[in-house]
Amino acid sequence: MSQPSIKRNDLPQWQALCQESESMKGKHLRELFAADPSRAENLSLEAAGLFLDYSKNRITPRTLELLVELAKACDVKGAVEAMFTGEKINRTEDRAVLHTALRNRGNHPVMVEGQDVMPEINKVLDRMSDFVRRVHTGAWPANPDVRIRHVVNIGIGGSDLGPMMAAEALRPYWNKNLDIRFVSNVDATHFAEVTRDLKPSETLFIIASKTFTTQETMTNAESARRWIGELPVAEHFVAVSTNEKAVVEFGIDAENMFGFWDWVGGRYSLCSAIGLPVMLAVGPQHFVQMLEGFHAMDTHFREAPLASNMPVILALLGVWYNNFLGADSHAILPYDQYLWRFAAHLQQVDMESNGKSTARTGQPVEWSTGPIIWGEPGTNGQHAFYQLIHQGTKLIPADFIGFSRSFNPIGDHHAKLMANFFAQTEALAFGKSAEELRAEATPEQLVPFKVFDGNRPTNSILAEKLTPHTLGALIGLYEHKVFVQGIIWDVYSFDQWGVQLGKVLAGAILTEIEAGDERALRHDSSTNQLLRRFFAQRRKEEA
Ligand code: F6P
Repeated sequence: MSQPSIKRNDLPQWQALCQESESMKGKHLRELFAADPSRAENLSLEAAGLFLDYSKNRITPRTLELLVELAKACDVKGAVEAMFTGEKINRTEDRAVLHTALRNRGNHPVMVEGQDVMPEINKVLDRMSDFVRRVHTGAWPANPDVRIRHVVNIGIGGSDLGPMMAAEALRPYWNKNLDIRFVSNVDATHFAEVTRDLKPSETLFIIASKTFTTQETMTNAESARRWIGELPVAEHFVAVSTNEKAVVEFGIDAENMFGFWDWVGGRYSLCSAIGLPVMLAVGPQHFVQMLEGFHAMDTHFREAPLASNMPVILALLGVWYNNFLGADSHAILPYDQYLWRFAAHLQQVDMESNGKSTARTGQPVEWSTGPIIWGEPGTNGQHAFYQLIHQGTKLIPADFIGFSRSFNPIGDHHAKLMANFFAQTEALAFGKSAEELRAEATPEQLVPFKVFDGNRPTNSILAEKLTPHTLGALIGLYEHKVFVQGIIWDVYSFDQWGVQLGKVLAGAILTEIEAGDERALRHDSSTNQLLRRFFAQRRKEEA
C-alpha cells in the first residue's frame, strides 16, 4: 500500500513540480504547439475504445515526467494492486474496496478474508438477469393479471445517480415495453410528479439502498407502499441492499431482494445489483457489455505503465492544475445529450471521494485536495457559462467528451454538435490575439473586450459511439482517475464522514418541527429565526 506517512509537500518530486510551475508561467499553448509538430500525436492515448488527446494542456514532456515521478513516489502502482487484490484500503471503515470485482469478466478469483467473492457476484448477476427476463416477458410477477410497464427506482446518492445516469446514457438500447423512472429527493414533489401518470397495478418499485436506513429513500419507499394501496407488496416491490434484515422488516420478501456487499462503495455500486434499473432498461446482454467496458478500462488501469495509463494521466493533469497552477474546479462537458446526468454522477464519485482535508496520517493536509466538479452537456453550456471559461479570471480545466457517430442521425445536427466540440477546444487553447483582431479591422476601443487569451486547458475524449461498452469504459476511467488522485493527495477516498453531521442535525430538527414548539428551540439565533418563521408560515397555511 502507498506510503501515507510522507507529507506530499515535503516530497522532492512535489518541490520539483513547484519549480516546474514557475518555469511554465508565461508559456502559451500556441508556443508549445509551434515548437513540436508531433505534439498532438505524442500527447494522446487510446484505451478500451476511448481516445484521449491531452495535448491541449499546459504541460511539456518534462512536466509529465515530473508528474509521473510524483505518482511513483506516492506508490500509485502499489495502491492499485492493494485495491484490486482486496486489501482493506478503506481503513476508516475497515473495508476492502472491490467494485472492480463486480465487473471482473475474466472471472479470476478475488479474495476477501480468504474467500473468493466471484461465485457470489456471479450468482447475483444471474438472479438479476433471470428477474429482468421474467419482467420483460411478463412472467414476473407470477400473477398473470399483472403486467409491469413502469419501473420506479427509489434511491439517493450512489443508489440513484449512477443507475440514473447510465440508464439515460443507454436510452437507445431500452426495452420499448418498459419505462424506467427515478425518485431520489425527499421533497414529495419528486415522488408525486414521477408517479402522477402511472397506474399502481402496472408499476414496480425498486427500493435501492445499501444501508436501507437512508431517510430520503425510506420516506419515499413508505409513500410508494401507501401509493399501491391494497395491492400486494410482493408483486410491486423489490429491494437492492446489503441489509436483508431491514428489507424484510419493511415487508419485502428476501426472495425479492438483490444483495451486494460492504466492500462496494455507494458511488461505485453501479455494477452491483444497484444497476438493476439499468438492466431492466437495456436487458442483461447490454448490461454485461457495459461491465465488459468497465473491465477493459480496469485491465488497462492495472496493467499499463503510469506514463501511458489513461486514468493516471487524467489524474496527474488534475493534480497539476489543482496543486501547482491554482485551479479549484474542473468542468465535465459531454457533447452528447444522452450523457446529461454524467457530470452529476461524477460530482458524487469525485467530490464525495476526495473532498477531504485529513491525510491518511490523521493530520490536516497542507495541500489542496479534490476540486469542484461541475458541468452540463454541450452545446447548452456554451450559451451559459463558457464565457467565464474563455475570458474569466479563473483557470478551469475542462474535459470534452464526444462521439463520432450519433444514434439520431437527423440532418446535420451531429456535424454541428461536433463542430462546436472541436471549435471550443481550439478557441480555448489558442484564443484570439489583439493583433488578429486588428487585422480583422476590429474597432480599436473594442479590441480589449474581444481578446481571447487562450491557454485554457482541455482534454478531449473521443469515442466512436456511446455503446454500453464505451459507457462502462468511460465511467471506469473517471473512477480510477479519482482513485489515483486520492492516493496522491493522501486521503481516504472511500469513506464519507462529512455527510453525517447534517443528517444527525436534521433528525433533531425534524423532532422540533413535529413538536412545533418555538420556545423549545435551542439553536443559534439564525437557525432559531428561520425555524420560527417556518413555523409561523406553516400555521398560516393550516389556518
Ligand atoms: O450521501 C451519503 C451516502 O451515504 C452516499 O455515500 C450513498 O451513496 C447515499 O448516502 C445513499 O446511501 P444508501 O444506498 O445506503 O441509501
